[in-house]
Amino acid sequence: MMEKVPADSARSERLEVSRLHLLEAAGGWYHSFELPDGSVIPGVIPIEEERARLARFGLPADLTGRSLLDIGAWDGWFSFETERRGAHVTAVDCVEIANFVKLHKRLGSRVDYRILDVYELPDAGLGQFDFVLFLGVLYHLKHPLLALEIVCALTRETAVIESFAIDAPTWTENPERIPWMEFYEADELGGLLDNWNGPSVSCIVSMARAAGFARVEVVRAAGTLATVVCHRRWLPVPADANSGPKLLSVKHTRNNGINFHTAKDEYISWWFESDVADLKREDVMAEVSGWGVPAMFLRREEGSRWLANTRLPPGLSAGWHPVRLRTANSAFSAEKRIAVNMPAVSSELDLTGSTDGVTWEANTIDQSRGGHGSFWLRGLGENADCANVQVWLGGEKLAVEYVSEPDEFGGRQVNARIAEPLPAGKYPLRIRFGGAEIEGREIQVRG
Ligand SMILES: C[S@@+](CC[C@H](N)C(=O)[O-])C[C@H]1O[C@@H](n2cnc3c(N)ncnc32)[C@H](O)[C@@H]1O
Repeated sequence: MMEKVPADSARSERLEVSRLHLLEAAGGWYHSFELPDGSVIPGVIPIEEERARLARFGLPADLTGRSLLDIGAWDGWFSFETERRGAHVTAVDCVEIANFVKLHKRLGSRVDYRILDVYELPDAGLGQFDFVLFLGVLYHLKHPLLALEIVCALTRETAVIESFAIDAPTWTENPERIPWMEFYEADELGGLLDNWNGPSVSCIVSMARAAGFARVEVVRAAGTLATVVCHRRWLPVPADANSGPKLLSVKHTRNNGINFHTAKDEYISWWFESDVADLKREDVMAEVSGWGVPAMFLRREEGSRWLANTRLPPGLSAGWHPVRLRTANSAFSAEKRIAVNMPAVSSELDLTGSTDGVTWEANTIDQSRGGHGSFWLRGLGENADCANVQVWLGGEKLAVEYVSEPDEFGGRQVNARIAEPLPAGKYPLRIRFGGAEIEGREIQVRG
């Protein structure tokens, strides 16, 4: 029989977490407002508290010409105040709030007000914003990490996340502690049905980094709330920086290619040489098209050669993206590039040569010498790689291990290995890339 244990004391504490019972007394206003004629609309949140919150976010005082997205705007104090400071503001809420509409009219506001759920934002065609406010929404979400990835993809510069945090009053920075989160199946948090999760402060920080932000700072943790400011870029290179690491190669962690897809959960492997003897994961600053990506893994391969893994940062457009990295006290490496959401396109393939990869004997692969074949092709697309070039001998698919850069005539070398031993004999070679395929040549496989 299961032992009966007393109810978790946090249960009753969590039920009390909400200021919404004050809403009725405040005439339905959550935010307070001071209008241009000096009159005040008092809400649940006092104006001084709203101003103190905004001051903490570290946004420029003058927001002229900057774009800002306020997700979960409710009555809209943050939307209207940042508009007053010059920003082009888009405000989003999952439900139309009558007070927002009323004030929008009364203030003659040009805030673009959209009724959208946070999960609808990727398809809403809003573009990206210099600043994104994500205040008081995270704990309302069934899919918090997905929502943070959406927030990151919409952010060009800085996002502010403010959330209920279970350990806000006692939190101190301690990287040794594993971040954790409570899950509320029903109305355990504040008696409300749409409260789903209670993260610890470090859980918010870790999730924000996992979602793709380069730097995440806790600017306040007190009472029931934590405020974290999330930056997409690294701090500038220090003036006295050492020379940068040597970037050896940048590949898809799972398939060794250079093609990445934003709809998939994909990771980048970075091989580089660095003189820093005691390099730490936190000191690796990778960058994709200017956006910082924290390293999730770092391993010394041998000597000064290292491997770091990062995620693919969200919000990348289709096309080629420059990638580079630096360490905490170094300049950046030279750039390489990766392809994002690019189809494999080829008009016609032309096989100009085929040899054993070790003996160079024509139209032969010798399995006693490793079973390597080298093929020279024209017509491969620019983004051809080990994952989208496919090579068969008869019905057997070979492991493509190398696709060279094009030579001056557009020719490329493809190396592929017989992965499963084949009986000696002649096999038809077939190579496919994108919609194009070439076949017909016979390859002598030696045992
Ligand atoms: C606690 S209020 C926060 C108001 C304001 N951002 C602030 O912090 O003062 C939460 C707001 O998020 C909105 N919201 C909740 N779930 C949402 C979702 N899935 N998508 C968009 N907005 C959501 C609510 O309608 C509400 O306006």
